[in-house]
Amino acid sequence: MFKNEDYVLENKGIYYTYKNGKQRKYKSWLSGAFSFLYDPLMSKSVFPKTLGASMEKHELFLKNELNFIHNKEILELGTGSGNLSQILPNDNKYSGIDISKGLLKIARKKFYKAGFNKNFKLFLCSAEELPFKDNFYDVCIFNLSLNFFNDLDSVISELKRVLKPDAKFICSVPIKDRNTDKKTIRGNIYSENELKDIFESKGFSFRPYPFKNGSLLYFSAILEN
Ligand SMILES: C[S@@+](CC[C@H](N)C(=O)[O-])C[C@H]1O[C@@H](n2cnc3c(N)ncnc32)[C@H](O)[C@@H]1O
Repeated sequence: MFKNEDYVLENKGIYYTYKNGKQRKYKSWLSGAFSFLYDPLMSKSVFPKTLGASMEKHELFLKNELNFIHNKEILELGTGSGNLSQILPNDNKYSGIDISKGLLKIARKKFYKAGFNKNFKLFLCSAEELPFKDNFYDVCIFNLSLNFFNDLDSVISELKRVLKPDAKFICSVPIKDRNTDKKTIRGNIYSENELKDIFESKGFSFRPYPFKNGSLLYFSAILEN
């Protein structure tokens, strides 16, 4: 599943990636010691206050979208604390990447608990430079992570590279147009049209879902040949 020039070593359930013999290192926005604060922050502050959105509706929407996906290779960029483990059917093979080791450690427990057993791998790496080989994944998910990627252009190029030609991409992301209360949202906040232009310029079709939930936009994208 890996590119030739990369290698990957596992330690206590987390896979560390190496390039040219050196382990890749990252600076995370939430330092390891504070990772335990992530879930309460999301449910008590980020969803209701910053995004003006319902976490329950968000999870239900994604569950309905992912419910019919079985026995596929799934990639999530920006795994965080592993909340997708509660949403994705556990007969899929899941690869999750994140730059936060602390959050990946929490995610590891959740994926075990959700019954993924040996069907999941968590990688400390950046979405901008993936260690995976070309044409490997059936489905890729960015759940609330797109706005955190500094170099979205590189991320989408990598996404395009690792997806199979008929693969599907699903994304939830806060956008400017729906941030009607002008809340300060972390990261790079795009408009729906900007995202459409970015994805279409990389050869994806851009399909927004009609579902609305606070500042969040939900869309899928499919590679057009
Ligand atoms: C708001 S969290 C969303 C996490 C998770 N998907 C969820 O729904 O709870 C955004 C995540 O993106 C990760 N992240 C930020 N920049 C990244 C990058 N360049 N590559 C991979 N992950 C990144 C952060 O560490 C964080 O865990």
